[in-house]
Amino acid sequence: MTLTIMPIYGTRPEAIKMAPIVKALQESPQFECVVTVTGQHREMLDQVNQIFDITPDHDLNIIQPRQTLNGVLTRTVEGLDAIFEESAPDAVIVQGDTTTSTTGAIAAFYRGIPVIHAEAGLRSFDLFSPFPEEANRKLTSQITSLHLAPTDISKRNLLAEAIDGEHIVVTGNTVIDALHHTVAKALPFSDPQLEDIAQRSGKTLLVTTHRRENQGEAMRGVGRALARIADAEPDLTIVLPVHRNPVVREAVLPAIEGKPNVHVTEPMAYGEFTRMLSVADIVLTDSGGVQEEAPSLGKPVLVMRENTERPEAVTAGTVKLIGTDEERIVEEVDTLLHHHGIYAAMANAVNPYGDGKAAARTVAAIEQMFGVGQRIADFDPKTS
Ligand code: UD1
Ligand code: UDP
Repeated sequence: MTLTIMPIYGTRPEAIKMAPIVKALQESPQFECVVTVTGQHREMLDQVNQIFDITPDHDLNIIQPRQTLNGVLTRTVEGLDAIFEESAPDAVIVQGDTTTSTTGAIAAFYRGIPVIHAEAGLRSFDLFSPFPEEANRKLTSQITSLHLAPTDISKRNLLAEAIDGEHIVVTGNTVIDALHHTVAKALPFSDPQLEDIAQRSGKTLLVTTHRRENQGEAMRGVGRALARIADAEPDLTIVLPVHRNPVVREAVLPAIEGKPNVHVTEPMAYGEFTRMLSVADIVLTDSGGVQEEAPSLGKPVLVMRENTERPEAVTAGTVKLIGTDEERIVEEVDTLLHHHGIYAAMANAVNPYGDGKAAARTVAAIEQMFGVGQRIADFDPKTS
């Protein structure tokens, strides 16, 4: 008997991290994989599905300009419930901590469908930062049947919340599977200016920003910091693939407009972004996924947040939390540009988040959940 598993996702990072799972489920004889996207993101979601050659079976297309969290929630529940009414899968799998993810879990749980949670157990221990992601992932954990923790720390976070260890498997993070898949291809840039930046000898600072709690004055400060860095460092190129969110664009772009050494692009296709990560010298970001990828490529990461649910690379020394203060951003970038010893100490390739086999472990864990496979050993970066 084939079991039907429904991956549900809606935003760019979920699509990237779900893609290896979709591929592995499609290859498994035990499972039928029915892909459902909410369309919380549109262009940024489609871009990823295209790269991984995934055609969703269902697309709720819920996106609205300047959408609200409750709007995303209600449209997701309504759309998913209609699908579950038609044909309920044996389990759904959701990824991470977006509103699509938690709402997908709730909609399934209310229909009595088991929830599998990929990237389970991340905690910043501040309910309001990141907002609403810390709340989202905690809510999902309460209604999940199988918790796929990326690291031992995330497993221990779940155990500390009295979640039964029998239902937790440490798989590694599938973002590293996706990264291996694309970096190996060394894809060309579609924008010739990016190819020039990649080839030139000067240094490159790669920047991304989108976090909801940084929007407004903090993000305007990020824009001003970038403008000051660009003026002070004419040989540096700043590359900013800017999120589609108009609120982000309105905050960060005005200060850097017209700066000759700041290259603003639309969101880059995943293959191009990971290539830019691999050629950049420094990464400045508030992204979750980028905090996992850049250390694997040995790139120092300055994280524009006060806390992180991904402490592993901070401990390894490759990631530094610097907050969003304009002055501090300018100082920290300056230090990495001009103090070789400090730069070298951070530029270490570390892989606490995965070994590229997280999707295979995910499928094995789901097999065990349904009694058609054995329990597998937890991922351990020291031995894998
Ligand atoms: C969402 C997730 C966040 C994740 C981020 C990844 C929630 C609450 N937030 O935040 O956890 O880190 O995605 O990028 O789930 N837009 C487009 N086209 C797109 C994508 C976005 O036009 O392809 C615009 C729309 O105007 C939309 C706005 O961006 O209303 C915000 O999108 P939304 O998904 O609500 O929030 P993000 O900040 O992207
Ligand atoms: N990314 C991308 N193109 C870009 C910027 C980022 O493909 O222009 C990828 C990046 O490699 C990472 C993911 O998007 O895997 C991170 O998404 P985002 O920062 O939007 O969300 P978060 O990880 O913070 O939830």
